[in-house]
Amino acid sequence: RWVAVLAGGLSHERDVSLRSGRRVSAALRSAGVTVEEWDADAGLLPRLRDHRPDAVVIAMHGGEGENGSIQTILDLLDIPYVGADPAACRRAWDKPSAKADLRRAGLQTPDWVVLPQSAFRELGAQPVLESMVARLGLPLMLKPDQGGSALGAQVVRSAAELPTAMVGSLAYSDAVLAEEYIDGVEVAVPVIEDADGTPRALPAVEIVPESGVYDYTARYTAGLTTFHTPARIDDTTAAKVAHLAVSAHRLLGLRDVSRTDAVVSRTGEVHFIEVSVSPGLTETSLVPIAIEADGGSFGEIYAGLVDRAIA
Ligand code: DAL
Repeated sequence: RWVAVLAGGLSHERDVSLRSGRRVSAALRSAGVTVEEWDADAGLLPRLRDHRPDAVVIAMHGGEGENGSIQTILDLLDIPYVGADPAACRRAWDKPSAKADLRRAGLQTPDWVVLPQSAFRELGAQPVLESMVARLGLPLMLKPDQGGSALGAQVVRSAAELPTAMVGSLAYSDAVLAEEYIDGVEVAVPVIEDADGTPRALPAVEIVPESGVYDYTARYTAGLTTFHTPARIDDTTAAKVAHLAVSAHRLLGLRDVSRTDAVVSRTGEVHFIEVSVSPGLTETSLVPIAIEADGGSFGEIYAGLVDRAIA
């Protein structure tokens, strides 16, 4: 019995994915699982078809790893995998759609507008930016509507910064998600399903980047971000944060593992930011940090998810 760990791919997060793939492969091996590490390149499809692993662990991030594409291929080949099905991946991957689902369920998420690139052409940049600021105020967050690892995500503090920031976000997607900025404590909450399929939140990890901004460099350079696990929040807030993460996991129909990112405002309100269906598994990533801080073994937990996928 053996597992293929898929990493790499074509997205902007290819390098992160390769690191996640190496880390989870090593952890699975140390838990006694036989693993092959495969680069998700042009040869992937015939390789999957011809070699048929007993299960796949998707360590791909960005587009095809998280938007349901690779999951659809695995479904068509009838190869089990760890993680959510294609439809759930699509809902979670599209940040505005995930936010809308959670808001409909009564959960809090920063107010937002989605600005497709075409809006700038049709309506003119100035009126679009002005109405966005009128609605959301400043500072605000700009990010690609689909994407990860904070690529193209920025805090915009003045109207003068907006045009350049907008171009920066649109470099990664055809539409920008602009959000009200919530000042507070940034936390990430992994959710792992038990052997019986019950999702459980791990203790929240509080993220304190040295630079003040948890950008790509702060995420993937050891020592540039301090993590507090559990987060330095009171028990009531910790319970709210855990409830939010499990609710996001259930509402979006996710499976096995997810990671919800949230902000606890200065007044103690918990705001959903986004959820990842293929969270980073690198040395500086939050899921392995939370598992180990909770006294668990990253390899054993992923080996358990593989067992469930195959069962
Ligand atoms: N998109 C990165 C890998 C994460 O969410 O951890």
